[in-house]
Amino acid sequence: MPVSVILGTQWGDEGKGKIVDLLSEDYDIIARYQGGANAGHTIVLNEKKYVLHLIPSGILHPHSICVIGNGVVIDPVALMEEIQMLENEGIQVRNRLFISHKAHLIMPYHKLIDQISESKSQKAIGTTGRGIGPSYIDKFSRVGIRIVDLLDHSGFEQKLRQNIEANNQVLRKLYDYDELNIEEIIDKYLEFDKLIDPFIKDTTYLLNNAIKEGKNILAEGAQGAMLDVDHGTYPFVTSSNPTVGGACTGLGIPPTAINKVIGVVKAYTTRVGNGPFPTELEDETGELLRKQGAEFGATTGRPRRCGWLDLPQLTYSTMINGITHIAITKIDVLSGIEQIKVCKGYKINNAVTSNFPADLPSFEKVECVFDTLDGWQPFDCNVKNFDDLPINLRKYIDYITQQTGVPVNIISLGADREKTIIR
Ligand code: GDP
Ligand code: IMO
Ligand code: MG
Repeated sequence: MPVSVILGTQWGDEGKGKIVDLLSEDYDIIARYQGGANAGHTIVLNEKKYVLHLIPSGILHPHSICVIGNGVVIDPVALMEEIQMLENEGIQVRNRLFISHKAHLIMPYHKLIDQISESKSQKAIGTTGRGIGPSYIDKFSRVGIRIVDLLDHSGFEQKLRQNIEANNQVLRKLYDYDELNIEEIIDKYLEFDKLIDPFIKDTTYLLNNAIKEGKNILAEGAQGAMLDVDHGTYPFVTSSNPTVGGACTGLGIPPTAINKVIGVVKAYTTRVGNGPFPTELEDETGELLRKQGAEFGATTGRPRRCGWLDLPQLTYSTMINGITHIAITKIDVLSGIEQIKVCKGYKINNAVTSNFPADLPSFEKVECVFDTLDGWQPFDCNVKNFDDLPINLRKYIDYITQQTGVPVNIISLGADREKTIIR
């Protein structure tokens, strides 16, 4: 069975981009399955940094075919900027990138309403402002506009006109905001139709035919399991399913085709935006992690909240995703910290549980129960053998395997593709 899914096990930014790029060598097709330009996946190659928001992180391997699946919401502006950025770097995108004709389009009103509603809300989620929530709302309300709608220009124009009019009412009445210019938006999207045309395909057939031919597919998740609209820290989540099921619905492939689920785990925990974070460190250790880990958002530049590794969270994540392999990242960032804590259980109302709660009031009561492990000193991160790693680092990894029941097969020791150990 040829499909592997790779996904974030925490609140996003685990280092998926680096790991996808690394593994792409062994896959024919790399396919993004959900989210949109809220994602920021970083790849560092030959000291050059690439941040990808929509295009799969396999694009730097000339042999890979890259697919953006039907589950992704596409902002034409972000997409064209990204294609341009890659082409400017001499990377071929044409004839290698295929976008599902069933993917929904992000419109200017989605982004505007995302940004205004967040700025006016007392309980802001801390979204990326990329229009993700509003565009998925339209999709599930069955008024969304898909790429396939561009085939019929007059039908497209009619739908778009209706949607802009409806959103202009919201902007005016609810937010006292200027209306959007209907003709300008229509013209812009019809122009976009010409640009995007060469990339559009029925990617459902492309992927399923590839499966039949025995090709290897790597399904790339965005965000992280704890930002999943069903399984995350609702309502402080994104509006899609980054968890493993999203790979099936977001690409149109059967679950029976998946034989590997690789969970990317950051050696500590970070979160951008608001919402529960039981192991958060609002002290100098948190500051140290942010500084040593350069924990600033790849999409918005916001400082990431930092804390210790959280096992109730991680074991929940490995359980719901059926994680078969762990790729641990940024373990180098912990070097030099004398005592490393790991949250092993949550004390809620004087009872300790290893289960992850579903409601905000429970999260507010959580007191973390910690294990403390001895740290290690900085070391040469170019080592290639597991046995050459500091003993306490090896113990930290063994501890994670023991607690989650999942083997750690990939150990990332730096942003660069080369700084990795594969076991
Ligand atoms: P993604 O959204 O999961 O792809 O992760 P991001 O790209 O948003 O954030 C991860 C950040 O950590 C990026 O700046 C990466 O270049 C960097 N990174 C990835 N792996 C490692 C690692 O093992 N060590 C260090 N120090 N940095 C890493
Ligand atoms: P990658 O793929 C980290 C967070 C936002 C916010 C919440 C909802 O790079 O790991 P949205 O704009 O999706 O409506 O925001 O989700 N968020 C991410 N956090 N990494 C991401 O993507 C994220 N994508 C969304 O910060 O808290
Ligand atoms: Mg990111």
